[in-house]
Amino acid sequence: MNNYKDLEVEINILKDFLKLDYIFVSFKDKTLTVGNKDDNSNNLKLNFNEDSHIEISKKEKINEDDIKILKFFIYRLEKGYLENGNSDAYYSFNGLNGVKDENFLTNKKLKDEIVKILLKTIETKDIETYEHSKGVAYYSKKIAEKYNLNSDQIEDIEYASFLHDIGKISIKEHILYKPTKLREDEFELVKKHSEIGYKILSISEPLRNIANFVLLHHEWYNGMGYPYGLKGDNIPIETQIISIADFIETFLQGRNYLERKETEDLINELEKMRNVKFKGELVDRAIEVLKEKEKNV
Ligand SMILES: [Fe+2]
Ligand SMILES: [Fe+2]
Repeated sequence: MNNYKDLEVEINILKDFLKLDYIFVSFKDKTLTVGNKDDNSNNLKLNFNEDSHIEISKKEKINEDDIKILKFFIYRLEKGYLENGNSDAYYSFNGLNGVKDENFLTNKKLKDEIVKILLKTIETKDIETYEHSKGVAYYSKKIAEKYNLNSDQIEDIEYASFLHDIGKISIKEHILYKPTKLREDEFELVKKHSEIGYKILSISEPLRNIANFVLLHHEWYNGMGYPYGLKGDNIPIETQIISIADFIETFLQGRNYLERKETEDLINELEKMRNVKFKGELVDRAIEVLKEKEKNV
């Protein structure tokens, strides 16, 4: 039972992004059907036994990029990432709210331990990313507290912040540490780090929520981010918080001005990104955190 919530999160992201009314997953038939309630003729049925068996019945409604996203989702179904038993499942937006994870306590302890190991791995491989990730966790936790999220959400935000750039361990050092501007093809490789991070983390059941947040941490509020170009609150609030904390940490780390000047500059930069990269309300909360920090230095 404890995978239902993950499946729901995934499906909600997909549904919003692809503008669909429903996604029907049949574990019995190994098929996935997406479509709209009022118009069955445009349903799309995909088989997730083998990639080569994917059948696209109605191509015209869904473009190639959307298919890529669905294939990635199917890949995870095939790997058992979202397997939840033998029964068929139909998910609507609020269909499974409140489903209780029976292994919550065990998973929590396990989650703490896995995060610790992974963070140590990052530290060993890449001290800069490690220091950066700790900084992001500091700011994201402060912003999340201001946003009145519950303690489970804040913990997931903190953990996802620690691990948000874990996918960078797969990027060659000459690209990762290149002192000059990256070429376009190099930048495309770097951009893969959020999906690679997702693939690393999502194999662990207790980390699947965190994996989703990591996958989306370079999405922009205005829809101009990657990998999916999700827009507005289709991006989970947890991810939005990590993303703004990432921006703050990168800005402060990359400059050697005095503290006062840094904060002023940063606030100006954040204002420019209001409703562009970040939700306006989060910009307000982030500025509050920065002003409070400055007062206490
Ligand atoms: Fe990143
Ligand atoms: Fe980052």
